[in-house]
Amino acid sequence: MLDTVVFSDLDKNYDELISKAASSLKGGSLVIFPTETVYGIGANYKISSSVKKIFEVKGRPLDNPLILHVSSIDMAMELIDKTIDTKLFESLANKFWPGPITFIMKKSSAVSDFITCGLNTVAIRMPSNTIANKLISLAGTAIPAPSANISGLPSSTRKEHVIDDFYGKVEYIISSDDKPIGIESTVLDLSLDKPIILRPGAVTKEQIEEFLGYEISYFKYNGLKKPKSPGMKYKHYSPKASVIVLEYDYIYSDKSKLKKDIGVKSNNIMYLEYKNSKLMAENLFADFRLADKNNYDYIAVKPCRKDEIGVAVLNRLSKASGNSFEL
Ligand code: TXA
Ligand code: MG
Repeated sequence: MLDTVVFSDLDKNYDELISKAASSLKGGSLVIFPTETVYGIGANYKISSSVKKIFEVKGRPLDNPLILHVSSIDMAMELIDKTIDTKLFESLANKFWPGPITFIMKKSSAVSDFITCGLNTVAIRMPSNTIANKLISLAGTAIPAPSANISGLPSSTRKEHVIDDFYGKVEYIISSDDKPIGIESTVLDLSLDKPIILRPGAVTKEQIEEFLGYEISYFKYNGLKKPKSPGMKYKHYSPKASVIVLEYDYIYSDKSKLKKDIGVKSNNIMYLEYKNSKLMAENLFADFRLADKNNYDYIAVKPCRKDEIGVAVLNRLSKASGNSFEL
């Protein structure tokens, strides 16, 4: 068990602590840090044993590649194949970075196979969270960081989630009191003829299309062994309780009616409904974790509207329910 150092940007020694965390990360330690989407668990991308530890502590499948987090476009350029045209990437990055969007590009030789799990492409993102940015800048190098959760469980959106999952397993946990967006970044693949969205997020299809001036589509995973994004084939975002998605216009009156409506015997049902999609994004994963802490058997969720971030939230809800809910 490691002696995990936990601190936040409100700590009076913050500057000293984050410098220590950055140099410890450079030396091969694991550091958990907040981003504007969800918490990430970072390592030194050049040390294979350090990156391997990320997979180990998360229990992450070995064929699921990592996103490299950068603090500047120049840092990103070093990770991208020098022989390709990067104009589209640069214009999109200038428009949407720092922010909740990840771009997939053909990789340069600086990026090893243990980051991309053998793919010839790399996922890159510049987070807007100031702690994340400072950590990357201080480390002076891109930071590979998947969401900081045990694989398969909901991503971490609060300090207590990362403490629950990783205290004693990583050298540093940096927390923030700011509420993050609550779901992971949009993943946009720019390595093909036409951009395609592999994972919806807070940067919407419409925002990207408006900037590009043409329509793009979502990649639909068809159950094949080799999906475009390896993460697609794994169970995700799932609490231990079974997630049941209600009708869009469900009207909740009481528990016994809900029990009848969803056709279960257990009384141990958590009912979730949110005012809007933004609040649902902020709180869904935290509520999933709360349900598990309180040993609920079922979580019955009223879906939000398919507006803006709603598309991404419903995508996570669908996966959490075992894809029983069609978007
Ligand atoms: O908001 C986020 O993106 C958070 C924060 C920490 O930045 N990170 C995150 O990482 O969600 P992770 O590892 O949980 O999800 C990354 C997704 C996975 O589905 C993975 O398969 C996909 O990105 N991915 C990574 N590299 C890829 C590549 N070269 N080609 C296609 N998909 C890739
Ligand atoms: Mg994840």
